[in-house]
Amino acid sequence: MTARDPLLRVSGIGKHYAQPVLADIDLTLMRGEVLALTGENGAGKSTLSKIIGGLVHPSTGDMQFEGRPYAPASRADAERLGVRMVMQELNLLPTLSIAENLFLDNLPSRGGWISRKRLREAATRAMAQVGLEALDPDTPVGELGIGHQQMVEIARNLIGDCHLLILDEPTAMLTAREVDLLFEQIARLRERGVAIVYISHRLEELAQVAQRVAVLRDGRLVAVEPMPENDSQHLVNLMVGRELGEHIDLGPRRIGAPLLSVRGLGRADKVRDVSFEVRSGEIFGISGLIGAGRTELLRLIYGADPADSGSLALGTPPREVRIASPADAVKQGIALITEDRKGEGLLLPHSISANIALGNLAELSRHGIIDHKAETALAQRQMDAMRIRCSGPGQAVGELSGGNQQKVVIGRWLERDCQVLLFDEPTRGIDVGAKFDIYALFGELTRQGKALVVVSSDLRELMLICDRIGVLSAGRLIDTFDRDDWSQDELLAAAFAGYNTRDALLSEPAAPTP
Ligand SMILES: Nc1ncnc2c1ncn2[C@@H]1O[C@H](COP(=O)(O)OP(=O)(O)OP(=O)(O)O)[C@@H](O)[C@H]1O
Ligand SMILES: [Mg+2]
Repeated sequence: MTARDPLLRVSGIGKHYAQPVLADIDLTLMRGEVLALTGENGAGKSTLSKIIGGLVHPSTGDMQFEGRPYAPASRADAERLGVRMVMQELNLLPTLSIAENLFLDNLPSRGGWISRKRLREAATRAMAQVGLEALDPDTPVGELGIGHQQMVEIARNLIGDCHLLILDEPTAMLTAREVDLLFEQIARLRERGVAIVYISHRLEELAQVAQRVAVLRDGRLVAVEPMPENDSQHLVNLMVGRELGEHIDLGPRRIGAPLLSVRGLGRADKVRDVSFEVRSGEIFGISGLIGAGRTELLRLIYGADPADSGSLALGTPPREVRIASPADAVKQGIALITEDRKGEGLLLPHSISANIALGNLAELSRHGIIDHKAETALAQRQMDAMRIRCSGPGQAVGELSGGNQQKVVIGRWLERDCQVLLFDEPTRGIDVGAKFDIYALFGELTRQGKALVVVSSDLRELMLICDRIGVLSAGRLIDTFDRDDWSQDELLAAAFAGYNTRDALLSEPAAPTP
């Protein structure tokens, strides 16, 4: 075969579970090219990647790799041929060190003994490739922030022979600095002739990194074309089959009296003396760099961590409340929807309806017995409202695509009688169309008079939906901006204001406390 022949050829690939999820996929991949793979949640991106990576067996079709028939029996089988995959969900062992995780399948040994010295040296080299040289290779992975864990996962797949690399949402948890490092690494791999499949919901990234784009809709390829330059509307259109505007109308609503008052809240150097109010019917955004204390602030309000100082008051006139645990918070009508699906306690083997019911057992049970009809009706309502893509309310959550699992997490809380809703990165991993569905839900919640606090790394998202935005920097609330009175530059400047620049760039979130 020559360099002009495709590295990978996919012909008529399909996959059925209870229902078909992929059909008639024809695709080629050239050496040294980056192919962006995109599409709505549940469109089949991860499934197609897993078929190429040897983790899932196709129901129909066949593949060729380097000119020869390719039907990997397992992931290890694919890896032997140089096909590597960074999966959407991290697969690291938290109690093992970085070095051990990197070389898990292939520990350097001498006479049956693991050579610690060689392991450390090899790990240091692998870590330098992705800019992790400042870390000690003996650090347990569980102690790293989630962004660094993602980089370790990527480094692991760059070790050894790699001809084809699949990156399934590699940047969902990375900050701008780490994304840049990843892109440098991708450029180097391309020069070596490695082909890359790059999956992301961040359209601006796709345009930056890929030469071609393939779009999946409902398990079918609807477009494979050269990456359109400076035309994200076209990409969005291909993905969701409808136009999404730059603006959103959340509908008429009334912003009333303060519902939540936070006064002088602090914990160590993470959150320092933070005060703000959120009114009924209002969306209050919190912006800031990773590590600025955004998640920590929400956790303090929710009672997930104890505060060193400060107080909370609810309602009008403000009534001071003591919240020592999440159970207290829920009793007082405060909910926290976290960024971490696994940690949030989704029961993956259980059905969508059981998972949504979990937070709502009181309303669904009569004399201690769950009303299954009501449970199913509730699940159906949420599935419709958020367009959760599934075969029915009885499907196991573990079978849903990543983004649809996220919607189940949100759905669980929307039915509860909470007056104050705290959202931490609510649209992470969610496709552009579904994001707008979630914004519409936010509009609905504000019309019910609830107060919403939304943390997001996506500044444009906050500017789209918030009435006010508070900016945290190094744990302090530096400034609060009103809608119509902010600019992206001012918001960014505030995010950096609390640090000297170097600290800001090096800041990394602490590992979430279990
Ligand atoms: N093991 C399984 N059993 C049944 N259905 C499955 C299984 N794995 C995936 N599916 C279904 O296949 C469809 C495609 O899922 P996939 O994870 O490939 O989507 P995706 O495009 O990666 O979405 P996302 O953007 O949310 O990550 C979904 O409807 C999902 O529910
Ligand atoms: Mg996926």
